[in-house]
Amino acid sequence: MSIAHGIRTLGVLGAGQMGTGIALVSALRAKVPVLLHDRSPEQLTKGLALVDKLLAKDVNKGRLTNEQAKEARDRLMIVGKEEGLKGLRDVDMVVEAVSENLTLKRNIFKNLAAELRPDAILATNTSSISITKIAAAAVPDGVSAASEEGKKSASRVVGLHFFNPVPVMKLVEIISALQTSEETLNRARAFASACGKEVTTSKDVPGFVSNALLMPFINEAIMHLEKGIATREDIDTTLKLGMNHPMGPLQLADFIGLDTCLAIQQTLYEGTRDSKYRPSVLLERMVDAQWYGRKNGKGFYEYP
Ligand code: CAA
Repeated sequence: MSIAHGIRTLGVLGAGQMGTGIALVSALRAKVPVLLHDRSPEQLTKGLALVDKLLAKDVNKGRLTNEQAKEARDRLMIVGKEEGLKGLRDVDMVVEAVSENLTLKRNIFKNLAAELRPDAILATNTSSISITKIAAAAVPDGVSAASEEGKKSASRVVGLHFFNPVPVMKLVEIISALQTSEETLNRARAFASACGKEVTTSKDVPGFVSNALLMPFINEAIMHLEKGIATREDIDTTLKLGMNHPMGPLQLADFIGLDTCLAIQQTLYEGTRDSKYRPSVLLERMVDAQWYGRKNGKGFYEYP
């Protein structure tokens, strides 16, 4: 028997590439009203412009009628800086998709635990940070994490890891924290399915399954470039044509964002203390130079 996700309204926190994509598939595929929140008005404008562009493309390609696109767009509402998290207080689930920073995420989850209903699911789209650490923050002030109230509050936290570009990639990786309840896990799984995604599950280990396997691969490609073993083009072409990867690893690193790749690799390295996860010096230097890849025009390639 399929389990109902019970999400009547969704909140999405962060209107970057991931948050916008999550908001779009939720409104279009799961057909739930979505409140998209970001502190930056520019980011919200950019996010909505991307949604409009993707919906218009689907209409042009005959995959959606004008009416279906309009219905999906009408399900999307924005919540600005003035309202803040209070604007999300009535949602049944929130998906946080802000940048990969533990302190930032812990602060957000502390506030979400205080603002949202006690039965609302608190999901994070983190790529590698421990869901257990994030869940430990989702406890109201003055309540012990080991008390019944603290355990109940943390039990609604779950990892819901989407892939970029969200409307295209077919997977959601679900990660349960030590504290996550079976009910939270099942509802999160049902919601990801309603968004049209296949679901895999992983234990809460650094990088989960996806990035524990992907990041050493990307890092090894960067080290091959650093050592002058092959050009950027030859490294990427080898993997694209030799192994049928849609993008070579250096193109993929630019696509994910070099700052994000470095943050994930640092989490993997710190979390395992295994030298196989040590980020390459070249990646560190490129991030020092603020070359973040496709998002700001310069990475291993140039994006004019
Ligand atoms: N947002 C939405 N849709 C996008 C998009 C974006 N940013 N970029 C491309 N697309 C869509 C295109 O509009 C196009 O859609 P239609 O078929 O409807 O026309 C489709 O994707 C194919 O695009 P293109 O024909 O332009 O180019 P392509 O065939 O080279 O595909 C790609 C582009 C889908 C991005 C493909 O190169 C690919 O699959 N790359 C690998 C992506 C990947 O591995 N993502 C996971 C990264 S890891 C991650 O996200 C998680 C993490 O934790 C780091």
